[in-house]
Amino acid sequence: MNDADRVPRGVDPTRPSPARMYDRYLGGTANFPADRDAVSRILALVPEIRDAAWANRGFLQRAVRWMAIRGIRQFIDLGAGLPTQRCTHEVARAITPDARVLYTDSDPSVIAHGHEILAGVPGVAVIQADFRQPAALFSRPDMKRLINLGEPAGLLIVALTQFIPDTEDPWRLVEQYIAALAPGSYLALSAPTADHTIGPKIDRILDVYASSTIPVTTPRSKAEISRFFAGLEIVPPYRGADPEVTSAGLWDCEDPDAAESDGSRMFYVAVARKPGATSVAQAAKPTVAELGISADALTWRCSSAGPGAIEVAFAHAHGQQWALVRLAGDPDGRVSVFSRFEWDCFLDGVRNGEFDDAAS
Ligand SMILES: C[S@@+](CC[C@H](N)C(=O)[O-])C[C@H]1O[C@@H](n2cnc3c(N)ncnc32)[C@H](O)[C@@H]1O
Repeated sequence: MNDADRVPRGVDPTRPSPARMYDRYLGGTANFPADRDAVSRILALVPEIRDAAWANRGFLQRAVRWMAIRGIRQFIDLGAGLPTQRCTHEVARAITPDARVLYTDSDPSVIAHGHEILAGVPGVAVIQADFRQPAALFSRPDMKRLINLGEPAGLLIVALTQFIPDTEDPWRLVEQYIAALAPGSYLALSAPTADHTIGPKIDRILDVYASSTIPVTTPRSKAEISRFFAGLEIVPPYRGADPEVTSAGLWDCEDPDAAESDGSRMFYVAVARKPGATSVAQAAKPTVAELGISADALTWRCSSAGPGAIEVAFAHAHGQQWALVRLAGDPDGRVSVFSRFEWDCFLDGVRNGEFDDAAS
């Protein structure tokens, strides 16, 4: 790996591994010549697979950020892959600095590399675990140490289920993970599809992966991928969209007409919420004085000019993000404190026109 080709124990460098091939698509160096050859054979016929990998990785990152903003403070990242491209804990901690993450994967290269890169990072662990054994994962000491199952969690099953054939019932496995989590938890799942790609390209991909360390790859239809979300509440993938599975590029996009590409259409994705009463620990709302922040030290942004304009500043305190709001031009006036979650809900409501009739 890293071209010095150090071979961690248990790793066969002569056979391509899906984790290292994925690293190669993303421009990483944690791969061997066998992985690079396998990727070259695919790229020769399916150059858009690189874009597909980036679209998928971008979905994972946007979904983690979206969940963190909504108060999710702990994540289980199954089939996490090599931690070489902005990982879950980095994305989550940009919002919630003490977010906890349990990474799992079955590939020994991922575990070796993960231990190297994440050693000493508090609140994060990477462990070897097979997705097909959910019960075993929930009994692992790192799971018990990092994840409080009484509190909502973010479950990431991103670009993993294609390695589980129908005969092993991946739908039932996903259900088992969800069953262990608290209501209010979120599932972010992506899976590759053959719906928009011509047969010879799919054949080439399947053929190359057949020689890898995980030889079964099963692209699925939109209906099959939608079944992973049975019993959950899918969130609308972008403003104005129906709550359904969509292509990776569309999720959380600003402009659906510009967000898709041939590559991004190779993955279906969604984020969905486990229904039921949530117990997300929304800390009791402090006053600005209790936040211990000087209003002068904040960057205030003004909504517009004129009477009634407001100023907003964001601050991190007590382990979460807060939105501070005051009347523009009244720096000594009262500052109202909202959790970032409340503020984002409010903004969503404004964008969706939910308050348009409020004054009448
Ligand atoms: C394409 S990578 C996806 C990495 C990451 N989730 C992402 O989407 O950015 C698929 C990962 O799933 C892992 N994987 C495949 N089968 C698995 C299994 N049965 N249990 C755990 N991990 C598995 C592979 O080793 C690989 O790291």
